[in-house]
Amino acid sequence: MTREYQGDPTMPVHADISEVLFTEAEIQAKVKELGRQISEDYRGKTPIVVGVLKGVLFLLSDLLRSIDCQVELDVLAVSSYSPETRNQGYVRIIKDLEMPIQGRHVLFVEDVIDTGLTLNFLLNSLRTREPASLEVCVLFDRRSRRLIDIPLKYRGFELPERFVVGYGLDYREKYRHLPYVGVLKAVALD
Ligand code: IMP
Ligand code: MG
Repeated sequence: MTREYQGDPTMPVHADISEVLFTEAEIQAKVKELGRQISEDYRGKTPIVVGVLKGVLFLLSDLLRSIDCQVELDVLAVSSYSPETRNQGYVRIIKDLEMPIQGRHVLFVEDVIDTGLTLNFLLNSLRTREPASLEVCVLFDRRSRRLIDIPLKYRGFELPERFVVGYGLDYREKYRHLPYVGVLKAVALD
């Protein structure tokens, strides 16, 4: 059960973090390594990298700058989940991709995968558009909570069963901009 957390907005945001799980240096090193693998695998293929706003912005920005093959970028946005919609695994696309992906190599990038329900829904939706290939890159994988098996071609860190914030991950839209990932004081995983 997530308890309401009211940080002190007059203090630096770092004061609200009880523990850092992944440092900025660890994250940057991992993202560079993922970028290197992606560059090797996709050289000559010009993939479209696709991300879901807003959490993935930080990862996308760093990952793309560590990729040195040709690549194109597109984003989509979904309605933020409520506990009910999350259980159904249904999300509504409120901003679709701008590019047609039929016949293209698509690399779907996600900051975190938990149950996998959101990602599963989105991958099924993209598959109906008949991309040449569709692979997934995720930085934080909380495999212990997975309800649907999704093959992950590129995987960064295993995430423990604790609610974390930073590097795109938010608590009620806050703390996304932390350069590291940490545990917020007094907030537990739902
Ligand atoms: P799922 O894989 O469908 O369960 O949903 C994953 C989504 O839940 C992510 O896109 C995040 O928005 C959110 N999420 C999961 N775990 C965390 C966390 O520890 N901190 C912040 N957001 C999280
Ligand atoms: Mg997200």
